[in-house]
Amino acid sequence: MEEAASASASALPSWAALVLLSAAALVLVDAAARRAHGWYREAPLGAARRARLPPGEMGWPVVGGMWAFLRAFKSGKPDAFIASFVRRFGRTGVYRGFMFSSPTILVTTPEACKQVLMDDDAFVTGWPKATVALIGPKSFIAMPYDEHRRLRKLTAAPINGFDALTAYLPFIDRTVTSSLRAWADESSSAGTGRGVEFLTELRRMTFKIIVQIFLGGADEPTTRALERSYTDLNYGMRAMAINLPGFAYRRALRARRRLVAVLQGVLDERRAARSMGVSGSGVDMMDRLIEAEDERGRRLDDDEIIDVLVMYLNAGHESSGHITMWATVFLQENPDIFAKAKAEQEAIMRSIPASQQGLTLRDFRKMEYLSQVIDETLRLVNISFVSFRQATKDVFVNGYLIPKGWKVQLWYRSVHMDPQVYPDPTKFNPSRWEGHSPRAGTFLAFGLGARLCPGNDLAKLEISVFLHHFLLGYKLTRTNPKCRVRYLPHPRPVDNCLAKITRVVS
Ligand code: HEM
Repeated sequence: MEEAASASASALPSWAALVLLSAAALVLVDAAARRAHGWYREAPLGAARRARLPPGEMGWPVVGGMWAFLRAFKSGKPDAFIASFVRRFGRTGVYRGFMFSSPTILVTTPEACKQVLMDDDAFVTGWPKATVALIGPKSFIAMPYDEHRRLRKLTAAPINGFDALTAYLPFIDRTVTSSLRAWADESSSAGTGRGVEFLTELRRMTFKIIVQIFLGGADEPTTRALERSYTDLNYGMRAMAINLPGFAYRRALRARRRLVAVLQGVLDERRAARSMGVSGSGVDMMDRLIEAEDERGRRLDDDEIIDVLVMYLNAGHESSGHITMWATVFLQENPDIFAKAKAEQEAIMRSIPASQQGLTLRDFRKMEYLSQVIDETLRLVNISFVSFRQATKDVFVNGYLIPKGWKVQLWYRSVHMDPQVYPDPTKFNPSRWEGHSPRAGTFLAFGLGARLCPGNDLAKLEISVFLHHFLLGYKLTRTNPKCRVRYLPHPRPVDNCLAKITRVVS
């Protein structure tokens, strides 16, 4: 017994030594791997250019900063990722790292973001290859500068102009009111009584609207099938690009193939109708794209039309659906803000002449407080938390070098959550926008410059129409009000905001 005790006592130091040695070896391997990776990525720049790089590190080979990024977002602390750069390297506003398989400069302050976004000469779009494979090599996120300008001109006005929005308003209004009625029926004891997945329903609603604008509508099964495919596509977009069974990226690639097949089917029908002399009415975006010609008379081929549509249909519903959900949740959680927003809607309703049928675009432009509610939701939710560019030449930002060919990540989220830009940034406070026109670069919810979101006015209109009807006649009661929020691909409660929608008679 004594012998055994003394044997284990004498073995303890050697075990401890082994553990210590292993730990030291791990630290050495970690440091060596990071050093070697940094050297491999940065050595080609030469000593002089290397010395001008912003602070940061390449991290481990292959994964770089992706683990830290995914850990922060998946643990519910998305701001911890950039905060770790600020803590280690100071508030330089630009850092170097290795993201999505490329050496990358991370840009985190308003002035630096503005410089990059406004300089089309030095920066082009630079989305990761894996994202381009999902959205399409011929969509806006990958096409050359001139082609992008031409197709933007062709597609932006029919979405966002005054006339276009006026034309879409009745359909949006009808879709919103019938959706709210249906959800209230479903939530009532006469219906299932279980309530609805509010976010899922809102995404369906915004998808229906964008499909109407782009494809002139589609039957319910097609709309649902398309919308489900977009859910898979979005999950894959911000995941690691691992094309193996069971991984989100693999599912997303499959979803893209399904989307392309459906859109190709619609396009074939349109072309067949045209060849039989049944010409498109020219009112939806597919017709516009089929008819579009460049100055040399060249028309878009099927692949180009499909990629532009895959991108627009996605961008045109996912963000609007999420922001509408969060704005409703924030309003319901803040009775004072709800009351103020409702009072504005009631005042607007009283000011409408009896002869007017429904609300006009001009009425929506009078909704100042509601607009502040939406801007504050956009700021706080950060649905597009980051955007991607690539340097076409050596450029200096904040005194640091962004080398030619390197990727650039614009961290819109950091700008919106910076207490120096927005005091008490985690607080939902629409009044911070009162009489405040943000300095350029401080509000990037829709981006800035040549790639500013072409659907920003449409999105705000859709959200306003929804909130207008909601404030005047409904209430949201969440089943799990403290439900955990997942941040990838977009911030959402894990239960998709399970809730009852009830009519309120005032
Ligand atoms: C709340 C809703 C929305 C938000 C927050 C949003 C946000 C954004 C942001 C931040 C960008 C710029 C990305 C960059 O800097 O590269 C962008 C681009 C884009 N958005 Fe939106 N968007 C919304 C709604 C819409 C809608 C309704 C549409 C279409 C009808 C749309 C279509 C697009 C397109 C096509 C681009 C790419 C523009 C380009 O590369 O030239 N978005 N959006």
